[in-house]
Amino acid sequence: MSTRDRANTHDGAAVYSPGILKMYDWWVLGISNRCAWLCPTQSILLPFFQRHLTANHLDVGVGTGFYLANSPMHPAQRITLLDLNRNSLEAARARIASLQPSVVLEDVLNPSGALGEERFDSISLFFLMHCLPGGMADKARAFETLHRHLTPGGTLYGATILGDGAGHNWLGRRLMKLYNAKGLFGNKTDTLAGLESGLTRCFAKVKVWQHGKVALFTAQAPLH
Ligand SMILES: C[S@@+](CC[C@H](N)C(=O)[O-])C[C@H]1O[C@@H](n2cnc3c(N)ncnc32)[C@H](O)[C@@H]1O
Repeated sequence: MSTRDRANTHDGAAVYSPGILKMYDWWVLGISNRCAWLCPTQSILLPFFQRHLTANHLDVGVGTGFYLANSPMHPAQRITLLDLNRNSLEAARARIASLQPSVVLEDVLNPSGALGEERFDSISLFFLMHCLPGGMADKARAFETLHRHLTPGGTLYGATILGDGAGHNWLGRRLMKLYNAKGLFGNKTDTLAGLESGLTRCFAKVKVWQHGKVALFTAQAPLH
């Protein structure tokens, strides 16, 4: 990929300083998910995360590691954490240190091949896609990269905040405007249909649905 084609992914990851990460669970997972995006963490997102978590899992866009830290683990659990921001990787790694996760510093849109030939039975992308720049077709390059790291029959799954067309409430509209202006979000034009078509380019079995202003999705790699 030429330098000109590289997506500017810096702003969507750079905000996660150690200080911001200390407030992240309270503000994003506690207040924003419930009051702005109408998709509560405890009753919707956490059970969804747990449903598809396997003993050989890759978490992409790790934040504070909340979902992993609050999920029951399999015996001989294997976890790999992938993120563009070292602070996020360190916060999540420290939170699940007893599981001895592998840590990969990598940009899902401008991959360097840091995952090598590794494959996983499940890959989660929670609240990552709306942080990526460009339209859904550009962001879907992340699916092209990640689908190569699924084992046959493995599941990629996640959740992402939809764009302006979702009809956000007062708080949602203000956060959308602020975060998109600062480059933290790049989701103004994101739609459920765009997400579905991005996933369908890489996976045969795709499901997308909406809860509040959030799109949830699962996509399965073929069995052979
Ligand atoms: C909004 S947080 C989501 C954290 C967590 N998954 C959750 O749902 O609470 C987004 C995370 O994605 C990471 N991120 C943003 N852009 C990225 C990119 N291009 N490649 C890899 N990680 C990225 C950020 O550093 C941050 O840790």
